[in-house]
Amino acid sequence: MPDLPSSLKPIDEGGTILNVPFVSNPRGPAKKENGVFFNPAMEMNRDLAVLIFAATLPHEDTKILDALCASGIRGLRYAREIPLLLSHLSSSDTSLLTPTSLPTPSPDPSLPSPTSLHVQLNDTNPLAVKLAEQNAAALGMEAQVSISHERAQYAMSKEHFDIIDLDPYGPAVPFLGSALGSIAHKGILGFTATDTAVACGSYAKACQRRYQARGLRNHLCHEAGIRIIMGHAVRRAAEHDIALFPLIGYYADHYFRVTWRVEKTRSKVGKQLGQLSVGLYDPATTTVETLPWTPATPLEYHAKGKLLFGPYWDGPLLDPHTLSRLTALSQHPHALEMGAIDNVHKLVDLWNGEAGMPSFFYDTSEISRATKKEAEPRTKLIERLQEQGYKAARTHFTPTGIKTDAGWEVVSGQ
Ligand SMILES: C[S@@+](CC[C@H](N)C(=O)[O-])C[C@H]1O[C@@H](n2cnc3c(N)ncnc32)[C@H](O)[C@@H]1O
Repeated sequence: MPDLPSSLKPIDEGGTILNVPFVSNPRGPAKKENGVFFNPAMEMNRDLAVLIFAATLPHEDTKILDALCASGIRGLRYAREIPLLLSHLSSSDTSLLTPTSLPTPSPDPSLPSPTSLHVQLNDTNPLAVKLAEQNAAALGMEAQVSISHERAQYAMSKEHFDIIDLDPYGPAVPFLGSALGSIAHKGILGFTATDTAVACGSYAKACQRRYQARGLRNHLCHEAGIRIIMGHAVRRAAEHDIALFPLIGYYADHYFRVTWRVEKTRSKVGKQLGQLSVGLYDPATTTVETLPWTPATPLEYHAKGKLLFGPYWDGPLLDPHTLSRLTALSQHPHALEMGAIDNVHKLVDLWNGEAGMPSFFYDTSEISRATKKEAEPRTKLIERLQEQGYKAARTHFTPTGIKTDAGWEVVSGQ
C-alpha cells in the first residue's frame, strides 16, 4: 500500500475536523493533489447535502453509501452531523422546524433515531481509503462508519442502501444503473454532475451520446442542462420500473446536484415519463415552446429560426415539502455553524421564490435584445408583474433572470 503524503492539512467543515490533501490553489480547478482528491470549493455542496439528507432521512435504520468518498469528508460529515441536526433540538426549539407539517424533533420516537445511522465510505483509490480510515479513527467514528475499497458499481451490486451519494469526476451516468439497483424503495439518491459543458450543449456529440439529448447554448443553458440530466435519469430509472421524484435540483459553481426520492412502483413510472418534454426556444420572444416527449418524438424538428433541445425533465426541480424542511433545518444551531451557511441561505431563499414556478425564465438582457429597448431592472420587472397579478420571482440560475407565469407580451410590454 502506498504511503499517504506528509502534506495533509486539517480542515473543519461543519465542526467535523479531518485531514485532507493540501490544495495549492483552493479557487483553481479541482484536482487530485497528493494522491487523493479534495475540492475546498465544494463546501457548500457538502453543507447542503448534509442538510438535505437530514431533511429526507427515510427511517431510523438508515444506511448511507458515500460511493466515491475520496478523503471521506462527505460520509463522515453525514455520520456526525445528521444526528446533530436531528437530535440537538429540545422541545423548546421546535419552532425551528416550522411549518407545522414537519415532524416533531427528538426525543419524539417518530423521528428517525440518529443513533442507528450507518455510513459506508467507498473508493477505488487505496490512498483515499487509507485517509478515510485515518479520518474515521481520528473522529472516533469506527462504530458508525465502515470503509470499503471497491469499484462503486461492485459495492452497490452487493447491498441495498437507503441513501446513496454519488460525487464523481464528471457525470454520474456510469454509476446510475448500479445505484438504481442498490437503492431501497423510498430511498434517497443524491448525485453531483460536473459535466455542465456537455449537458449545456457545448459538446453536442457528447451530449447526444451520454444523455441522448440536445443541449441549448444560450442564457437558459444551465436550467436546460440540469433538466436534460434529470430527464435522462428518469428514462434510465423507467427501464427498471423505478420512478424518480426530484426533491431538490440546483445549479451552482459549475456543477449540478440533484436529490431524488426513489420509488420502486411500476404504476408511478408512466406519470414521471409524462413530465418529459422537447423544447423549441424562440429567440424572437425568448420563450420556450414545449412538445410532449415520447420515445417516438422526432429529435429532428425543423422549426425555422427556433432552437430544438431536449428531451428534458419538465416537472418541478424543488419539492415543496422537502424545501420547507430544508429551510427550517438551515436555521438549526448546528447549520448556523457551517462554513458556507450564508450562501446556503441565499440559495434556499431563491428556491423558496422559485418553487412552483414554470420551467425556464426570462432574462432582462435577452428581453432588451429582443425588444431593442433598454433593459427593465429585474426588481422593477418583478414588481410590475406582481402588480398585474402574475407570479414573479428571481431564479438561482442567474442574477438577471426572473421566473413568472406571465407570457411574452406582458413581460416585454409589447
Ligand atoms: C470527485 S472525487 C470525490 C470527492 C468527495 N466525495 C468529496 O466530497 O471530497 C471522486 C472519487 O471517486 C473515486 N472513483 C473514481 N471511480 C471510481 C469507481 N468506479 N469506484 C469507486 N471510486 C471511484 C476517485 O478515486 C475519487 O476519489
